[in-house]
Amino acid sequence: MSILVISTSLNPGSRSRIMAKQAIADLQAAGVETDFLDLQDVPLPMCDGGACYGEKSLPEVKQKIINATGVIMAVPIYTFDVSAAAKNLIEMTGRDCWTEHVVGFICAAGGQGSYMSVMQIAGSLMLDFRTFIVPRFVYATKGAFEGDEIADGEVKTRIEQLSKEVVRVSDALRG
Ligand SMILES: Cc1cc2nc3c(=O)[nH]c(=O)nc-3n(C[C@H](O)[C@H](O)[C@H](O)COP(=O)(O)O)c2cc1C
Repeated sequence: MSILVISTSLNPGSRSRIMAKQAIADLQAAGVETDFLDLQDVPLPMCDGGACYGEKSLPEVKQKIINATGVIMAVPIYTFDVSAAAKNLIEMTGRDCWTEHVVGFICAAGGQGSYMSVMQIAGSLMLDFRTFIVPRFVYATKGAFEGDEIADGEVKTRIEQLSKEVVRVSDALRG
């Protein structure tokens, strides 16, 4: 059992990354093996459906996803969707990586109104790759943070619940 947490924000001051790190801390506290992929450390080209797949960092990124029993994706909400970088990761990695994987989402947004923004990519993963989407989402805005800390206890609780649920569903599917 190893849960991969992916931080997809390219913003150095990212709030979704703060939540991604909290998920890792929660999983480790529960004795779960974790891996971390930060797209700020592994810049990927934009998917062009061709030459991009020759990117030298791509095999390592794909292997991390393939090796994971379950995945938590921390995403920024941009224009009522996940960010282009988050979507690009899925386009760059594709079927080999996501088929029948368990995926949970943590979202950082500017306002409360974009809470359904993750559904487009969740639906795409489900329909295209039969990915199991954990029906428990974390969604937080600026007010939930003080500097680099999560100040809102409910957001912390939801991250812990999501982490537990990703483990539970991943375990169940492994049989
Ligand atoms: C280009 C752009 C588009 C955005 N669009 C939305 C949006 O549609 N809905 C929303 O609630 N916040 C939106 N935001 C605010 C971000 O979701 C917010 O800054 C969030 O903290 C980004 O995640 P990060 O801190 O992990 O990078 C947008 C921000 C940017 C830069």
